[in-house]
Amino acid sequence: MSIEPHGGKLVNRFVSEIEKQKKIEQARHLKKILLDEYLTFDLDCIAKGIFSPLEGFMGEEATLSSLETMHIHKTIPWTIPILLDVPRDKADMIEMGEVVALYSADNGLVGTIEVREKFRLDKKYLAEKVYGTTDDNHPGVKRTYGLEDIFIAGPVEVFDKKVIDFEEYNLPPQQTRAIFEERGWKRIVAFQTRNPIHRAHEYLTKCALEICDGLLIHPLMGTTKSDDIPGNVRMECYKALINNYYPQNHVLLSIMPVNMRYAGPKEAVMHAIVRKNYGCTHFIVGRDHAGVGNYYGTYDAQKIFDNFNPEELKITPLFFDHTFYCRACGNMASIKTCPHDANTHVVLSGTKVREMLKKGETLPEEFTRKEVAAVLMNWAQNG
Ligand code: ADX
Repeated sequence: MSIEPHGGKLVNRFVSEIEKQKKIEQARHLKKILLDEYLTFDLDCIAKGIFSPLEGFMGEEATLSSLETMHIHKTIPWTIPILLDVPRDKADMIEMGEVVALYSADNGLVGTIEVREKFRLDKKYLAEKVYGTTDDNHPGVKRTYGLEDIFIAGPVEVFDKKVIDFEEYNLPPQQTRAIFEERGWKRIVAFQTRNPIHRAHEYLTKCALEICDGLLIHPLMGTTKSDDIPGNVRMECYKALINNYYPQNHVLLSIMPVNMRYAGPKEAVMHAIVRKNYGCTHFIVGRDHAGVGNYYGTYDAQKIFDNFNPEELKITPLFFDHTFYCRACGNMASIKTCPHDANTHVVLSGTKVREMLKKGETLPEEFTRKEVAAVLMNWAQNG
């Protein structure tokens, strides 16, 4: 039997085909809220059940409870509130209980929200609780400070899925669950990534696959910060790697339309919950998961799981120490498994990798597979 979705039920907030035309027609006469790219991704995640058990944007009580206790409705783990901010003058015009139309800049009318609450939040408090810092050099804090003043909450209805690049890989939870079932996988480990997969990542995923039936390579493809490697380049890297180095019958490549928050520990828990909704039973958490800059300790994103009872999370986190190729071992290894000095370890920072690529210097094979290095070199040299 497959793992239960978070909160017990896989949410689906898409309007049925039978009702769609009528509801779209009605929605055209409603007041409008314009969503930015980030919010359209969040809306899509709610509609597809990626954020189960949420059926809409979160209200004040759930938000405060998630910030203070990392749970909603007392017993359901939830670490990052999913919020819809609107300008104050717009909020003033909306009555409680009113259904309002949601628009996106590129696709026009995308859905509706039944407004059950309007509330305010102190943005510094919100930033501190989610990101553990109020420094606006942190991309998540910066976004928080830029939010509008009022939050509105309530269940949503959505007309169509959000179509993104590589849509054929954008499998919703219902579909990944069906594929796992069809392939007979019972223990499925998910790998979250927002980077190309280098040897260290490959090692984590393969160690995890040793004790599972299937591996879901699940790159995040919602909004990311502008200096992260673009999705299309990453996708080429994933395909090159999987085609050459992974057993096809034990691996599934699919993308996840969730925004990157850079919230380190709190995001690691959110990433695990989301993967449970996709049907995974295990989740990889390595060093500085979802981190940015020096805001989090190397293993904070692992330690946070101590706050949860395994029975309430159900998905099992698999923790990995810092991994690398060790020239003395002649192997991939980690701090835990390698007895040698750091100077025998092949470790390159993201900045160093960029510098090398810019100069046209080949990345060492111990750091990255040649097929992946070729994709990155092509991007760095030719754009
Ligand atoms: S993340 O923002 O998605 O966490 P990234 O794609 O770099 O960034 O990492 C994906 C996963 O691999 C995370 O669980 C991260 O902790 C882990 N990871 C990345 N590099 C290493 C490494 N050298 N050693 C151990 N874990 C790593």
